[in-house]
Amino acid sequence: MIAAIGQSMPKADEWVSSWVEPTEPAGGPGRQRPAYHLAGEFDAPPAIASAYLHATAHGVYEAFVNGTRIGDHELTPGFTAYRKRLQVQTFNVTDLIVEGRNALGAILSDGWWRGQNSVARRVDDYGHTTAFLAQLVVTLKSGDVVIFGTDFTWRSSPSHVVRADLIAGEVHDLRLRVAGWAEPGTDRSSWDAVRVADYGFRELCVSLAPPVRRIAELRPVSIRKLAPLRWVVDFGQNSNGWVRLRNLGPTGTQITLTYGEALDRDGDVTQANVAGGVSAVADESVTFQVDTVISAGVDGDVFEPRHSTKGFQYVRVDGHPGPLEIDDLTSIVVHTDLRRIGSFACSDERLNAIHRIADWSFRGNACDIPTDCPTRERAGWTGDWQIYVETAAYLYDVGGFCAKWLRDLAAEQWSNGAVTNLVPEPHPMDDREPAYWKTLVGSAGWGDAAVHVPWEIYRANGNKEILAEQWESMTAWVTFAAHTAATGRHASRVERASDAAPHERYIWDSGFHFGEWLEPGQSLTDAIRIAVNSDHGALATAYLYRSAWETVQTATVLGRGDDAERYRQLAEHVRQAWRTEFIDRHGRIAPHTQATLVRALAFDLVPPELRARTASDLVALIRAVGTHLGTGFLSTPFLLPVLADSGYLDVAYELLFQDTPPSWLLMIARGATTVWEEWEGIDADGGAHASLNHYSKGAVISFLHRYVAGLQILEPGYRRFRVAPRPGGGITSARTHHDSPYGRIEIAWQLKDDHGSIDVTVPSGTEAELSLPDSTTVPLRSGKHHQTWSQHG
Ligand code: BGC
Repeated sequence: MIAAIGQSMPKADEWVSSWVEPTEPAGGPGRQRPAYHLAGEFDAPPAIASAYLHATAHGVYEAFVNGTRIGDHELTPGFTAYRKRLQVQTFNVTDLIVEGRNALGAILSDGWWRGQNSVARRVDDYGHTTAFLAQLVVTLKSGDVVIFGTDFTWRSSPSHVVRADLIAGEVHDLRLRVAGWAEPGTDRSSWDAVRVADYGFRELCVSLAPPVRRIAELRPVSIRKLAPLRWVVDFGQNSNGWVRLRNLGPTGTQITLTYGEALDRDGDVTQANVAGGVSAVADESVTFQVDTVISAGVDGDVFEPRHSTKGFQYVRVDGHPGPLEIDDLTSIVVHTDLRRIGSFACSDERLNAIHRIADWSFRGNACDIPTDCPTRERAGWTGDWQIYVETAAYLYDVGGFCAKWLRDLAAEQWSNGAVTNLVPEPHPMDDREPAYWKTLVGSAGWGDAAVHVPWEIYRANGNKEILAEQWESMTAWVTFAAHTAATGRHASRVERASDAAPHERYIWDSGFHFGEWLEPGQSLTDAIRIAVNSDHGALATAYLYRSAWETVQTATVLGRGDDAERYRQLAEHVRQAWRTEFIDRHGRIAPHTQATLVRALAFDLVPPELRARTASDLVALIRAVGTHLGTGFLSTPFLLPVLADSGYLDVAYELLFQDTPPSWLLMIARGATTVWEEWEGIDADGGAHASLNHYSKGAVISFLHRYVAGLQILEPGYRRFRVAPRPGGGITSARTHHDSPYGRIEIAWQLKDDHGSIDVTVPSGTEAELSLPDSTTVPLRSGKHHQTWSQHG
């Protein structure tokens, strides 16, 4: 008996349960291992007041009490920096525990722990075995506490899930189901004894993020028969999750689902754009996003593979005798259950479509961690998230989601402050690692997530805690970047002059950088070649400046005056060095690319007297390519805002409404339902290229929130905000809402015959500044407001 534990997760010394591992034949092939049943029984005394189950796993588990699946969480325990942090879920199971005999059970699969994972799609990154840990804390009406949990009495057996791998998919043989496997009184004598393992409890932690759940269900929009027993199903929406299938046919019927984002020329599902791993380690002989079910011929049986995820809009169904009806298949949308706090709509349906696909891309890439794509890599690429976090934070409450991820980032940060490119970083960085992977760590624009993500979350919700918690990690990154700048020089600079000029100690041109990444016309292979061979000094130094400056502001918020001063000096030196190195004496910036100019304006690197000139140079570059954007991953989100802020709102709208490649509207015209990784993810002939679900380019919708609808943060948490709609491009109305920590902010404006009117709701505790398109500015107190203006006034 142990008192004083219950609802909250047990502390390290309060765990009395043991880690248990299924007994399995040695050397089962990775990527194709079964999920195991584990179960144990116990007697509960009478007069139960409450019962809480704390559970976690090396692998992915579903927990059961007396045959009932517990809770509605999916893919537990989630994905964290497992070597340092492993989440424990706590479920209230009071209603399920009965006096007398009870059974606890789990279905346990490889998950992120030892299944294929991330960029490398290697197996066994965290261990060669899976394990389960559960502790049931039963509080009696007398106040006494009784504890049951996993121990040596538990038994294990391979389940009817004969293969389960997050990326490969699953095979369920429903004929092998064992009735009552997690119910009391079941004869488990043919099962194996579990192995008790001594992993300790040090890494165990609670989750700061909401759980992953089944969030929505989509029906097919079409089902086409391709050949006998072969069908192609279109769900009309690219998303992350799996398909639920019913009507499984007579016993022994084998039905295979192949998931993809696109169709090939013959109208069949293709995986060619995403199935190929980018790492040599990936074993391409193994299936990719394929599920198989073998029917037991039982009426009403449903197949639902909950131990793997797939990025897909289409599914090829093989082996179904038909007829295959709309009601037989459901696309289950699976992601972190984030609270929606923002919306946008306007009079132009094409912009609403861009907003919709960017929103869906984020939903497709928020499955416990922010990922690059839900298909090829499914990795927590730091760069992608720092690009998108501001946009996401407008639409969803991502505070807990980020706090969890940032703890992982800090847990895996190197002792020199370098930030891993992936968070969590499954690569063990040991001898198993191809040496090059370590050399990629520390890239500008990626590692800067350590500073920018906490800063954006603080701006969005005004909660200083995230800054206090991340302070060490933020400053370690800036110190790393500044040190790398001070101690290295790019070969091209050395060639130019063997002695470094004094300002060069602040030019960050050494180390590895991905660079702007995927500028128009570049394929992934081009981007890698450019990353490795180019001098990224202008880009990396710009990021060093922005991160140093955000650190100054963080220090100020945290009341760390000395630190603020120290980083201010660093930031000033870096900015001065950037100007010396990259602006020539005529005021021209080099490299003279859209990306460099956009960044220079967005990060405030350009001296005030050169801003107008830089903006007009940028417009010249845009005009020179027929009014097209030329930016890649990193600077695209800033392009329209800097144009609008520099007196070129018209050019910003021309780019937004551009519909020849590269452009956002091309995606809409070619049927995108999520944002593409490459500008021409679907080419003119309908061929798919690279991932069709990468959110980074979708950060353009922040322009819709902040400029079209016009809501901008002035003080963290929207305590003060600006309402400054910038109509253009023929838009006649726009509306947005954002649930700030103080309450709902609403903006709705419309134009009629050159007369504008706007309605604004300002929550109590906040104040706003209304800047109308006719240049009048009105201070707004809390309450509802209505104003008008004349477009020509
Ligand atoms: C990923 C990106 C990532 C990049 C690194 C790609 O393969 O999909 O989104 O940021 O590598 O540059």
